[in-house]
Amino acid sequence: MSWRDYWNADTPIYVNDRHKILHYQLVARDIVAFGLGPNAAVLDHGCGEALSAGRVAGACGKLYLCDGAPLVRDRLRQRFAAERKIAVVSPEELEDAVQDGSLDLIVVNSLLQYLSHEDLAGLLGLWRSKLREGGRLVLADVIPHETGPLDDVRALMTFAWRGGFTVAALKGLVRTALSDYARLRGELGLTHHGEAEMLDLLRERGFQAERRADNMGHNPARMTFVATLA
Ligand SMILES: C[S@@+](CC[C@H](N)C(=O)[O-])C[C@H]1O[C@@H](n2cnc3c(N)ncnc32)[C@H](O)[C@@H]1O
Repeated sequence: MSWRDYWNADTPIYVNDRHKILHYQLVARDIVAFGLGPNAAVLDHGCGEALSAGRVAGACGKLYLCDGAPLVRDRLRQRFAAERKIAVVSPEELEDAVQDGSLDLIVVNSLLQYLSHEDLAGLLGLWRSKLREGGRLVLADVIPHETGPLDDVRALMTFAWRGGFTVAALKGLVRTALSDYARLRGELGLTHHGEAEMLDLLRERGFQAERRADNMGHNPARMTFVATLA
């Protein structure tokens, strides 16, 4: 099983509905905070269920939701069937679905850990071709080399404490530890990136980039990079 296959099913990652709702509210808030506009075109690549994508769509002109899992895309299409600003696409459809040089913002939150270095290099080329001059590519929730599962546990428990789902989070951690996620994390691993290594890669691929002081979402141990065309 690959990570992409893994996500094509319900997972124990979100410990309950409240966790999932708060998570996607936070992601949408952070995307909107990049400052969109009524004509902005935005791509959320590896978007997951994007429960609060309506909020992002309300702040821009067009929102492409791209996810590798057919199950996730089916749910997105059902959820946002009435939202004319949202288009749901697979990674394979992106090349044709999105005009070159048309995107103001590409957000890739919590995806890089599931991609090989080769896959990431290919995607950087695709994202580069789709960005408009002055557009931004945001690579977020990137896992640094020095962090591991305990940092994720700490971040989840802090988020759960603030969000009022501590007991569910504790139970969810046990479920996750016994699940396919833990088995796959052991077998396939997650891809980690160093800060300097990521900045070098972005530079080599035709971007100028910097690491933001804070990460998007709830996990302060992870990194966010903002890149523009060089
Ligand atoms: C951890 S979730 C992140 C979802 C969302 N970006 C967020 O911030 O909550 C990872 C998502 O990436 C998707 N995914 C995994 N591999 C992918 C790939 N190669 N291309 C596109 N999406 C992929 C999965 O289907 C899953 O929905």
